[in-house]
Amino acid sequence: MECHRTVSSVVLVLVLVLLLRWPALSSASVPVSRTITVDSKGGGDFRSIQSAVNLVPDGNREWVRIHVRAGGYREKVTIPREKGYILLEGEGHSSTVIYFDDYVHGSTDDLMRRGANAMGTLETATFRVYANDFVARDIAFTNTHNGVNKSNATQALAALVDGDRIAFHRCAFNGFQDTLCDNTGRHYFHECFIKGGVDFIFGYARSIYDGCTLVSNIPLRSGRHAGWVTAHARRHAGDPGGFVFKGGELRGTGRQYLGRAWNKYATVVYYHVNMSSVVVPKGWAPWYAGNDTNDVLFAEVGCIGPGSDMARRVPWEKHLSEVEVEKFVDMSFIDDGWLSKQP
Ligand SMILES: *[C@@H]1O[C@H](CO)[C@@H](O)[C@H](O)[C@H]1NC(C)=O
Ligand SMILES: *[C@@H]1O[C@H](CO)[C@@H](O)[C@H](O)[C@H]1NC(C)=O
Ligand SMILES: *[C@@H]1O[C@H](CO)[C@@H](O)[C@H](O)[C@H]1NC(C)=O
Ligand SMILES: *[C@@H]1O[C@H](CO)[C@@H](O)[C@H](O)[C@H]1NC(C)=O
Repeated sequence: MECHRTVSSVVLVLVLVLLLRWPALSSASVPVSRTITVDSKGGGDFRSIQSAVNLVPDGNREWVRIHVRAGGYREKVTIPREKGYILLEGEGHSSTVIYFDDYVHGSTDDLMRRGANAMGTLETATFRVYANDFVARDIAFTNTHNGVNKSNATQALAALVDGDRIAFHRCAFNGFQDTLCDNTGRHYFHECFIKGGVDFIFGYARSIYDGCTLVSNIPLRSGRHAGWVTAHARRHAGDPGGFVFKGGELRGTGRQYLGRAWNKYATVVYYHVNMSSVVVPKGWAPWYAGNDTNDVLFAEVGCIGPGSDMARRVPWEKHLSEVEVEKFVDMSFIDDGWLSKQP
């Protein structure tokens, strides 16, 4: 009896300890080895973000935080391939803003036909990350080139994301044409704000946009018929890419197609997204897929709002059941454990 009592007390204590410790263990924050502070007014280690990035050694393996104080930073910032494990942190995407105004000369169709980077399109981005293992939070990336006059807009990127295992939390991407090049790798965009008019999320990547707000900024009285929220570029059946919008909303001014197929295996899924009437009834455009839309995987599942009415959509849109859509919306679409290893 005595013995039983002791055993059950021990078990009880163990269970309590495990219950109390388990959540702490599972959400244990990943340590950051050092913090570099950037302050445009001069109160930090540097006044420019690129100077802080340059301080991170090539081949870096420990998370380094670059904290950017509130302010406007007029510079182009590049995280090179060699400098992994950087956490870029602002003080809110309406307070800490990186902005520049680079742009490409030439028409979209010419450029896309000749490949995304025929004219240095990707290099126009205000912010570029080529490294694997990168996190940004609470900061805005802005390209101001088409900001004032959109009647003769050209490609002007706010950000290029070109590495694997990358997450953005509560960030803003502001532009008009080609705002965000979500180019290669697996990415998680969490509660981000993405603004643009034409192909404003494009590239080959495999990404989940979780609870993001997509805002069309096509001027109300412009000659432009409609823009395209996405231009996904998946080329072959075996390629890993796909853009998945999970929750969140699509709104703004002008009209928008949900996407156009840059290549024949373009893959875009909207899942439970709240769509305003900016969405054109047809929903999607074939673009380079031409008549060959069999392998284009454009789908909407469980969306709400006036723009979500599928009655007049293109006949080649795919109809996925809640079960079929699971492989796209489950975090395993992008995550095999890397997300929980980020700070
Ligand atoms: C529009 O922009 C293009 C390329 O930037 C330029 O060649 C053209 O002259 C511009 N057109 C007008 C009407 O400004
Ligand atoms: C905007 O640009 C177009 C073409 O370059 C020009 O015709 C127009 O006058 C400009 N509008 C404003 C308000 O500057
Ligand atoms: C959908 O978005 C509209 C406009 O932002 C908002 O008024 C509405 O409450 C949203 N609906 C839901 C269910 O969140
Ligand atoms: C696509 O189909 C339409 C209608 O059947 C036809 O007129 C057009 O020539 C086709 N285009 C191509 C590139 O095959």
